[in-house]
Amino acid sequence: MAGFVGAQHEFHDDEFVRNWASRFVPTEPRLQLFDLILAEVEKLGKPDAHVVELGTGPGYMARHILERHAGIGFEALDFSDVFMNVARETIGDLCHRVTFTKADLMDQNWPQKLSKQPDAIISTWALHDLGGQEPVADVYARCHEALPTGGLLANGDFIKPDGTDWEYEPGRFPIDKHLEILRQAGFKDPRSLAHLEPNIVDPTAAQNYACLVAIK
Ligand SMILES: C[S@@+](CC[C@H](N)C(=O)[O-])C[C@H]1O[C@@H](n2cnc3c(N)ncnc32)[C@H](O)[C@@H]1O
Repeated sequence: MAGFVGAQHEFHDDEFVRNWASRFVPTEPRLQLFDLILAEVEKLGKPDAHVVELGTGPGYMARHILERHAGIGFEALDFSDVFMNVARETIGDLCHRVTFTKADLMDQNWPQKLSKQPDAIISTWALHDLGGQEPVADVYARCHEALPTGGLLANGDFIKPDGTDWEYEPGRFPIDKHLEILRQAGFKDPRSLAHLEPNIVDPTAAQNYACLVAIK
């Protein structure tokens, strides 16, 4: 059996966004991804790290991290006002620790909109939505420019698993290609920490995501 893996989104439509947020309340494997990313942030050894999340969406990872670390300052970047409103609701009483930054990751000047230099840039389930390898490579390059030496990039995103016969939308591509473009952007020793919810036989659009990490 073979087919196509991909998804259509309407990130600026209130009904679509609220449905998406309620369909994708984090499951156990997704919480595992959040914890893998949080552990990498902790390894920086900076209790007051400034963490920027690209494509924050409903704010699930933001809330997860803020609840566990009182010192972390968080910057939630998204281009959708609707998703940002949902994130404000999710983050609730912890919003005073969050800077909400509206920016489009397809605009190469997005790093200039950040409130301060990040110690870590993190993301889940977002960069594949930029539509291909080239825009993801551009984001990796901008992240490398924005981070200090020793800064962390952690991207937990959908990939095309090795050995599949299925066709994947262009934003979902193999882990090895991610590692190659991270190296090209200047990151040292990029790695994949995990391939979560693997399924090459009959995958859904919410399976097969990796935790990719790299240090500047
Ligand atoms: C599928 S949702 C994932 C949300 C969240 N990261 C999560 O894992 O639950 C993708 C998010 O990326 C945002 N996004 C997509 N394209 C973007 C772009 N060009 N610039 C900024 N944000 C973008 C969307 O608005 C949405 O919030």
